[in-house]
Parts: sequence; structure tokens; C-alpha cells
Amino acid sequence: MKRIKIAVQKKGRLSEQSISLLKKCGISFSQTNNKLIIRSTSMPVDILLVRDDDIPNLINQGIADMGIVGNNVLEEQESSGKCDSLIKEVMLGFSKCRLSLAAPKTKSFSDLNGLTIATSYPGILGKYLNENNIKANIVEIHGSVELTPFIGIADLICDLVSTGATLESNNLEEINIIIQSEAVLVTNSNTNNDELVKKLISRVVSVTDARNRKYIMFNADNQNKEELINMLPAAESPTVISLADTNKIAIHALCKENIFWETIDNLKEKGASSIVILPVEKLVS
Ligand code: PRP
Ligand code: ZN
Repeated sequence: MKRIKIAVQKKGRLSEQSISLLKKCGISFSQTNNKLIIRSTSMPVDILLVRDDDIPNLINQGIADMGIVGNNVLEEQESSGKCDSLIKEVMLGFSKCRLSLAAPKTKSFSDLNGLTIATSYPGILGKYLNENNIKANIVEIHGSVELTPFIGIADLICDLVSTGATLESNNLEEINIIIQSEAVLVTNSNTNNDELVKKLISRVVSVTDARNRKYIMFNADNQNKEELINMLPAAESPTVISLADTNKIAIHALCKENIFWETIDNLKEKGASSIVILPVEKLVS
């Protein structure tokens, strides 16, 4: 039987949640140190643990059938004309970050023309400069980009920002967001029709769709039914159950959005009691 290969980042901002997503999709395996490939014990699937920058190319060449990579890495490689057979299947909503321009706090630039920008993303940056008719120089550098303005290599940088801590500790200020990024599930146009690949894509969709959903249950007075149901965030046709006390009902609902404390306080004020909120693990529609 053909085994499917899934490429994920070995170490870095994507790895932990990529592995946890695959496990939630029913692919069991045990991680051992320093292995490039791990065989799943539950499905004909092998996990390739690689550098994130290698993932688009591995999938494009068909060495891996699918993979999880940051949209930033994907767009960078696509912008240089490589990786033309890749397909973005599912935006995964984790490892969110952005690619931004940042400059030393001590300087202010009214115009980027003629300036030098250091980045590991020359493709995306080049496209942005072109589209905005800016004539700036790009210095491609991998690693320690945030130091370049202070050693005379560049005037400003174009780098990934997540918490902003790296910029802050280097006295840099974000001046413009170029692209937003998050993890994405990728296949290639030769393998995405494979039965197992299709099955895994639909499992990834189910797990991803379930993440922000909650199942809520509570008891209330029958007379407050409509008002309480209207307070629930994006509830899909709630179930109303009558209780032994005929004035009382129980309401159960699947909510498409997270339920915040404000909503719970409002429900309580309208007489809801025994409120239970459960996370949704999988959502198969
Ligand atoms: C990026 C970027 C910054 C840091 C920003 O590096 O180059 O150093 O993350 O994150 P922060 O805003 O939370 O401080 P990363 O380690 O992701 O590099 P990579 O592209 O090699 O994965
Ligand atoms: Zn990387």
C-alpha cells in the first residue's frame, strides 16, 4: 500500500501545533529525537520533519504529498516562480504572524525611495515595492535581520513579527504590515486527488472548524427562552428540552464562536443556571 508523506517543521513556531493537529486527525506516532522520518502506527502515513523553508519545495517535487507551512514561506517561494503546482487547501488559524517593515525608533523616514531594506523575504518585499512604485534596495540576509540597521548594512528591515518582542528589544518600530501569515495545509496538484490525501484534508477541516466552537448547556425559565437563545453567539438551532418542573427548560446549543465571560454573565442575569460549556473536538458536517 502506498504511504502518504506529510512534511512538517522540525523545530520552530509551527512544529508543536502541526504535530498536535496531525494527532487529532487520527495519525498516531511517537516522536523520537533526530529522526527525519517517523512512521505512523495507525495509518499508512510517514511524517517528514524538516526545515520550514524546505516544505514548499518538497511538496512541489512530490517528495512529500502534503505539508503544513507558514503562508509567509509559501508566498516567498511562489513569488520567485518556484512551486507552481502547490495548492493551499486549508488555512489553519495557528502560528499567526505578519511580515512587516520596521525602522530604528530613532529615525523617521518620510519616503522609502533610495533606502536599503534587509530581509529574508526578497520575493515578497520586491513585489510590494514594485506594486507601490518604490525604488529601494533589497539586501537578502538569513538570520539576525533585526541587527542590520545598527551595523550599517541597511536603513530598515522587513521581517516576521509575532509578539513584537524581537522588534522591541532591538529598538525597532513596526511601520507597515506587508502580509499577514498563518499556518496553511498544502498539497500539490498531482497528489490532492489521492483517496487518503482527500480523507486527511477533510479531517483537518473538521478539527480546524471545531476549534472555536463550543457546546453550551444550561437551565432556565421557559418564559425567557427566546431572549436567552438570542444571546448565544452564532448558535445553530438550539435544542430545547422540558424539565420535570414545567416552568423550566434546558437549552443545549452548538455555538460557532467562542463564548466569552460577558455572554455567561448576561445569561446568568437572565436567570440561566447550571451553565456548562464544553470544547468541541471534531465537527463533521
Ligand atoms: C522570526 C523573526 C523574528 C521573530 C519575531 O524569526 O525573524 O526574529 O520571529 O517574533 P516576535 O515578534 O514574537 O519576537 P523565526 O524564529 O520565526 O525565524 P524563521 O523564519 O527561521 O522561522
Ligand atoms: Zn525558517
